[in-house]
Amino acid sequence: MPKPPLLMTRHFPPAVEARAARDYATVPNAADTPMSGAEIARAAAQAGVAGILCAAGDAMTAEAIAALPDSVQIIATFSAGTDHIDLKAAAARGIPVTNTPDVLSVATAEIAMLLILATARRAGEGERFLRARQWTGWAPTQLMGVTLAGKKLGILGMGRIGQELARMARGFGMEIHYRNRHPLPDAEAGGARYHDSDEGFLGAIDVLSMHIPGGAATRHWLDARRLALLRPGSIVVNTGRGSTVDDAALCAALGSGHLRAAGLDVFDGEPQLFEGYHTTQNLVLLPHLGSATVETRDAMGHLALDNLDAVLLRGESPPNRVG
Ligand code: DGY
Repeated sequence: MPKPPLLMTRHFPPAVEARAARDYATVPNAADTPMSGAEIARAAAQAGVAGILCAAGDAMTAEAIAALPDSVQIIATFSAGTDHIDLKAAAARGIPVTNTPDVLSVATAEIAMLLILATARRAGEGERFLRARQWTGWAPTQLMGVTLAGKKLGILGMGRIGQELARMARGFGMEIHYRNRHPLPDAEAGGARYHDSDEGFLGAIDVLSMHIPGGAATRHWLDARRLALLRPGSIVVNTGRGSTVDDAALCAALGSGHLRAAGLDVFDGEPQLFEGYHTTQNLVLLPHLGSATVETRDAMGHLALDNLDAVLLRGESPPNRVG
């Protein structure tokens, strides 16, 4: 049996590349940068690929999917998020789409916890202070942050990542609140308090951690109105998708002092950043590191390949089908 041709839009971890090369005739992207929709469609058509292994940032638009050759039997994304893929267009072509849930929950929750700690304790400002050679010595009121113990953490989107974060934050003595489409069963909520309104939720918490998917329905969820509902001195952290935050409104709330600080791992239109972020001091910025651990990226790659194998090697339905 000839190996099925597989378009790999990015460079993946070595173990994942090796497994892919063992089982597929891989069609690599020489550059490790996101491919445009036209580039994906062209590469897929040239090689007549059977599957596409893509990642966040690759523009799997309706036009790109419409232009894919009939040979494509599956699109597997190396991500939990699927906002870069037009799922309706894939469904219209009858092409299943799969993602990599669960395996990145702990790593992403760790980055959310890191941002909560870094913002509460002003780690970013402290680091920049030292690197700028401005430190003249310890002082009783220097770079004072706030203690997390006893503070209320509000988790927006209490899925698997949110639940992992709740577990970690309880270890820091935080009280957990959450806003979700529906309340969780007690075993999953772990004592966290459910809120059924934005007003009640945002007005009750000290730290907001955002874990909602991107897309039209959640665009600019955190806008000026909802920011105003947060208590003065609150902290905002986002490790979900950048499109869920109105950047100008967040910047204004940081600048006015309404917010104590914010921590962002994801950005609308990344890798470009909203200009005001570059000069905002009470803001910690990370380059989309949520799932970036060796263990997690290997697991994501193997899970994506498990899905490809199901369809292309065994003719089965893939385990992580999202569309
Ligand atoms: C995900 O898996 O969705 C991460 O944000 C990486 O894209």
